[in-house]
This record gives sequence, C-alpha cells and structure tokens, in this order.
Amino acid sequence: MLVLGLETSCDETGVALYDSEQGLLADALFSQIDLHRVYGGVVPELASRDHVKRMLPLIRQVLAEAGREAGQIDAVAYTAGPGLVGALLVGASCAQALALAWGVPAVGVHHMEGHLLAPMLEAQPPAFPFVALLVSGGHTQLVRVDGIGCYELLGESVDDAAGEAFDKTAKLMGLRYPGGPEIARLAEQGTPGRFVFPRPMTDRPGLDFSFSGLKTFTLNTWQQCRDAGDDSEQTRCDIALAFQQAVVETLTIKCRRALKQTGLKSLVIAGGVSANQSLRQALEAMLAELKGQVFYARPRFCTDNGAMIAYAGCQRLLAGQHDGPAIAVQPRWSMETLPAI
Ligand code: KG4
Ligand code: ZN
Repeated sequence: MLVLGLETSCDETGVALYDSEQGLLADALFSQIDLHRVYGGVVPELASRDHVKRMLPLIRQVLAEAGREAGQIDAVAYTAGPGLVGALLVGASCAQALALAWGVPAVGVHHMEGHLLAPMLEAQPPAFPFVALLVSGGHTQLVRVDGIGCYELLGESVDDAAGEAFDKTAKLMGLRYPGGPEIARLAEQGTPGRFVFPRPMTDRPGLDFSFSGLKTFTLNTWQQCRDAGDDSEQTRCDIALAFQQAVVETLTIKCRRALKQTGLKSLVIAGGVSANQSLRQALEAMLAELKGQVFYARPRFCTDNGAMIAYAGCQRLLAGQHDGPAIAVQPRWSMETLPAI
C-alpha cells in the first residue's frame, strides 16, 4: 500500500511517501522557522498561509523523488490533531481534496502517535510493549505502549512541555527561536558545576512533570548575573548547561521510575526534544545499567515530519481504518481515545 503523508500541525510542512512493502520512498520538509523567528515564536495565521503555499510543490517533489505518479497512491494520511487549528485545517483540506480527486481513502492521524511511531522507520525498530517518553514543543508524556492504539498515560507535565520550557527559557535569555537547539549548542561550551538548578517534582512519588518553575529559576539566575555586571557569553553557556542538565536529569529519573513501575526494559523517546544529544546519552547510560534498550528516530524524524504521519496512517489503513470525507480536525485530542488496531 502506497500512502502519501501530510503534516501541518504547527510550523513545518512535511510530506512523505511510505510504501508498506518497500518502506519510506521519499520525504520532504519545509520549515517555517525563519518566518516566525522575528516574532520569537509561531504566529498561527502566518503558519496556515505558508502551509497553503508549500503543500503542492512538496507533494510534487516527493512524487518525483520516489519516481511515482499520483495515480499510484492508495491513500492519503494527514495530521488531524493536536495542533494549531488553522494549520491542521490546511493539511486536512488538502488531504481530503486529493483523496476525493484520486478516489482513495483518507485517514486522520494523531500527531503524537506519529511521533511515537517514528522510531519504527529506523533499521532496528522497537518491539511492543515499551515505555515511551514523548517530549515535544506541546507535550511531555510518559506512556505505556502495548501496541498501536494501546496507550496508557503514566504521567505528563502539569504545566509547560519540555520543548516549551527550552523555547521559553531561551527567549528569556535573548536566544533565537526555537530554543531547544540553541540551548543545546550553548550548553556544549558550558562549565559543569558552576550552576546547579533544581530537578522539579523528583523528590515526590509519581510520574508527572513540571517545568515552569525551572524556567523562572533560570531567568532569576540570568538576571542576578546581569545585575552583578556579568552578561558574558560564557555565563550564558553555563546557565544553558545547568538548565539542560536539570531537564535531562528530571526526564531520566522519571523514565527510570516508569520502567520500574511497568517492569519493562525498552524505552522509546520521541518528539523534538528527543533530538537532544545530552538526553540521548543520559538515557542510553541508564538503559545500559538496567540491561535494557533505548530507541529513537534519526534527528530529522524527531521533530515534525511527514514520514511519521505516512507511517502511522499506513498502519491504521492496513487495519481497515479510515475517515469519511468531512474536513474535521481536533486541536486538542487525547491519545488514549484512539482505537487499537
Ligand atoms: O516535535 P516538535 O518538532 O514539534 C511539536 O510537536 O511540538 O518539537 C519541537 C520542540 C521545540 O520546543 C524545540 O525547541 C525542541 O523540540 N527541540 C529541542 C531540540 N531540537 C528541537 N529541544 C532540545 N534539544 C534539541 N536538540
Ligand atoms: Zn511534533
């Protein structure tokens, strides 16, 4: 089955062609980062308009790269939520229009299920069951995964998502959007131990997270340094390192707890923050100690992309699921409500 996947939930237009027999044939992405950077974050209306502009050229590009014709496509998968409503509607309208024109089914995919399944596109995919840490700009969740659509939420952030904490903290320190890669870059030059930030909610039981206090803690530290006349690049790097270490260690502690609680030895990390090298290293070390394994996607499939949507949509289509022709999106959508396949 040849599936065209479209991702438009936020500020990236992602398109891919996935074949159930041959795997991923082609994928293309247009990132709107430069468009939003001057505003310090995503401007929803600009995002929607840009998705409209990019979608068809990207679809033509992946078809050409894969050496396929539109007439060979068996189904269209699109991100139906969660995300920005206008941006989602562009992808949904485009997918439904193409499906109608081509006489093929369309399926709406849950964006976080797409992230969760992205490591399945790698050479050594994880086997069910596993614990998944989903860390994106909008979500921080620990999920027990027993199969596609068999999701049990173990814990989540009570305030900011991990990626959001990176983005907001970076903004407070005058860094560019998106903040995750910027903080990671500065942290590489940071002096270990100069600052130590709290590990929120690790001193009490449970698997929930809270990152908004850490953001305030970082801001206060940065302001104190500046008040004392130190706004050097090195101090910025040292603060970035302390912040990143606090996030990474907090996530690692909660992952260890989730693995213990479930008795599982496989951990999947997915979403934009799973591209973070320091997080990957900390989790690799923890899983090596537990004699388990950690799985993640290649960096460009950690952040938003069309390949994960084509893959997830294909699995649901193969199980006989698809949606009607209505252009319906769900800006807020719990993954636990998804049907099992
Ligand atoms: O999954 P994603 O592309 O979009 C959402 O679904 O939200 O995640 C984007 C988030 C942003 O907050 C970005 O700052 C963060 O992922 N991110 C990173 C890194 N690369 C992207 N955070 C930390 N380290 C990175 N290397
Ligand atoms: Zn995402």
